[in-house]
Amino acid sequence: MDLGIKGRKAIVCASSRGLGRGCAAALAEAGCNLVVNGRDAKSLAATAAEIRDRFGVAVTEVAGDVSQPDIQKALLAACPQPDILVNNNGGPPRREFLEINRAQILEGVTNNMVTPLELIQAVIGGMAERGFGRIVNITSLSVYVPIPGLDVSSGARAGLTAFLAAAARNFAHRNVTINNLLPGKHDTDRLRGPQRAGLELSENEKGLIADIPAKRFGTPEEFGQICAFFCSVHAGYLTGQNIPVDGGSYVSAF
Ligand SMILES: NC(=O)c1ccc[n+]([C@@H]2O[C@H](COP(=O)([O-])OP(=O)(O)OC[C@H]3O[C@@H](n4cnc5c(N)ncnc54)[C@H](OP(=O)(O)O)[C@@H]3O)[C@@H](O)[C@H]2O)c1
Repeated sequence: MDLGIKGRKAIVCASSRGLGRGCAAALAEAGCNLVVNGRDAKSLAATAAEIRDRFGVAVTEVAGDVSQPDIQKALLAACPQPDILVNNNGGPPRREFLEINRAQILEGVTNNMVTPLELIQAVIGGMAERGFGRIVNITSLSVYVPIPGLDVSSGARAGLTAFLAAAARNFAHRNVTINNLLPGKHDTDRLRGPQRAGLELSENEKGLIADIPAKRFGTPEEFGQICAFFCSVHAGYLTGQNIPVDGGSYVSAF
């Protein structure tokens, strides 16, 4: 399927590994020129080189913490008029509810709610003026399903979702959409531990998979393809939605 976004410019935050990288690769496959990001400059450069070689698109690297205002500025300087913004960031670590302190709550809210909001505020006016914009936020299934220990993550992402619900409608008539993809369990370092993505399953991971209707973890590649469709010309009438990408884990008839 031709996604109709060849030559479009995309900023993909936190995209050197995992789900962000899957989104960057799928957008590159669709012909988008990219700005990619991650804190570790070496792994970011390796990802950028691979995407460039494979898809022949322009890929600009902006290394640094996307939650920091100077890095956000650098992303926007590298791509002042993005057509597509994929918001992503690392997630807060697991913590017991009673052990979470104020600083940790504020850090999680900054990283997973305020940062994507700031980037959206910076780009959405231009998208509206130009009559095309696609914004995808990588959130989490924890917005729908409580996960003990990931309370900061769930709260910040649910806050982001609610914060954007009105804006998604307000910009729809300018062909600018805002949607959220809710990952369930995917084969990335975040879920499986440092540099364990793609490796053989441990006994504990086999147990996790048994509970997923699809009986496997999702892949960053298939996650990225869904993201690319949401960024396509075909998805202009689809906005303000939360899409679980979870192999059927979220159980609800509607
Ligand atoms: N995988 C899952 O099953 C799952 C499920 C639910 C929700 N999620 C959420 O989805 C998001 C992506 O998860 P993932 O599994 O792809 O994680 P991952 O495999 O750990 O990859 C995270 C990516 O983000 C970059 N990154 C992390 N913190 C950053 C920061 N402050 N600034 C810029 N880049 C940063 C990392 O590079 P550097 O480390 O070099 O910065 C890496 O490229 C996370 O928010 C996660 O909580 C994932």
